[in-house]
Amino acid sequence: MKTSTPIKTLSIVGARPNFMKIAPVMDALATHAVDQLLVHTGQHYDANMSKVFFDELGLPKPDLYLGVGSASHARQTAAVMTALEDVFNEHRPDLVLVAGDVNSTMAAALVAAKASIPLAHIEAGLRSFDRTMPEEVNRVVVDHLSDFLFVTEESGHRNLIHEGLAEDRIHLVGNCMVDSLKRHLDRALEASPWEAFDLAPETFALLTLHRPSNVDDPAALRQMLDTLSEVSQQLPILFPVHPRTRSRIADSGIELPASLQLCGPQPYLTFLGLMAKARLVLTDSGGIQEETTALDVPCLTLRWNTERPVTVDQGSNRLVGTDPQAIHQGCRAILAGDWPRARQPPLWDGKAGQRIAATIMQWVETRE
Ligand code: UD1
Repeated sequence: MKTSTPIKTLSIVGARPNFMKIAPVMDALATHAVDQLLVHTGQHYDANMSKVFFDELGLPKPDLYLGVGSASHARQTAAVMTALEDVFNEHRPDLVLVAGDVNSTMAAALVAAKASIPLAHIEAGLRSFDRTMPEEVNRVVVDHLSDFLFVTEESGHRNLIHEGLAEDRIHLVGNCMVDSLKRHLDRALEASPWEAFDLAPETFALLTLHRPSNVDDPAALRQMLDTLSEVSQQLPILFPVHPRTRSRIADSGIELPASLQLCGPQPYLTFLGLMAKARLVLTDSGGIQEETTALDVPCLTLRWNTERPVTVDQGSNRLVGTDPQAIHQGCRAILAGDWPRARQPPLWDGKAGQRIAATIMQWVETRE
């Protein structure tokens, strides 16, 4: 039976990788009887880490902005929780939606669970099995508190079952980040963003580096940058520098190799266009492993583990860790054309947001 009373959802975003995951879900829910509110915690606040993503993704302006900013993990998490408790008390949503694995995601999940508000986790079940990663702690906590576990790849389903979570909460729906990618790729390419950096398609590498394990230890960071500088003798490297990395470089007094072409964090469309036309991508990001697989662009992940194994098993991603030999070898193989083509993981078809909306609306009907 179709209900005429709209349900009220509250979606919470905070950091850059949340925005492209929530956009397709909010879009799909907009075609149903749903009153949607969007809350931005302010974990990321620089215009080029936040506002530009809202504009380019067509996200509505947040109804509420909590302005928590940067702090230690405990302080940042606590600030989001304290502010959200008041928001939930005031708005009493029927469902809270969170995405990914950042501190804002976990903080929101804890508050929703304590307020007995049903909780949906977009991108559930991913596990690196490395609890030294702050995101892994966030993932485990959020999944165990969630009523809806929206999973991007089969490993996520297996992990959740292994952790004793109920099968009927788990929904393999595909990948919302890939929904956004498919929707915006043509526009991203039309802008030829490589031209602004004096680069030609498929003649450059794109680098991102921001994980604490890679950038917080000055010796490790120096070794990584030296290795990448050697790579850049064969292929120009464009390096949009995350603010965290920029401040670690400044603090440690490392002189950046002149051969790396540096720029600030890039808008969504610019970065997507650059990724699509890179000869190869070097990264320690989670999401970029998925985006390069969706684009069939070779990716070397500068970590020893991945919570997204489908990008290695079926995609164009390989783990090279921080070992200079492995990084060089990976680059050589890619440049020699000795690299597998990506096969697209099941349901990475641009319709994950719609599947999530359909599941939510089914729940609404059974609840009536
Ligand atoms: C966060 C997420 C990480 C995600 C990344 C994407 C957690 C635990 N980590 O890491 O999973 O991959 O976002 O970018 O939630 N800063 C600015 N401007 C901003 C935001 C941050 O200058 O708009 C600087 C601040 O110095 C801050 C530092 O970056 O202290 C780190 O920001 P924070 O949000 O704590 O974590 P990220 O490293 O961005």
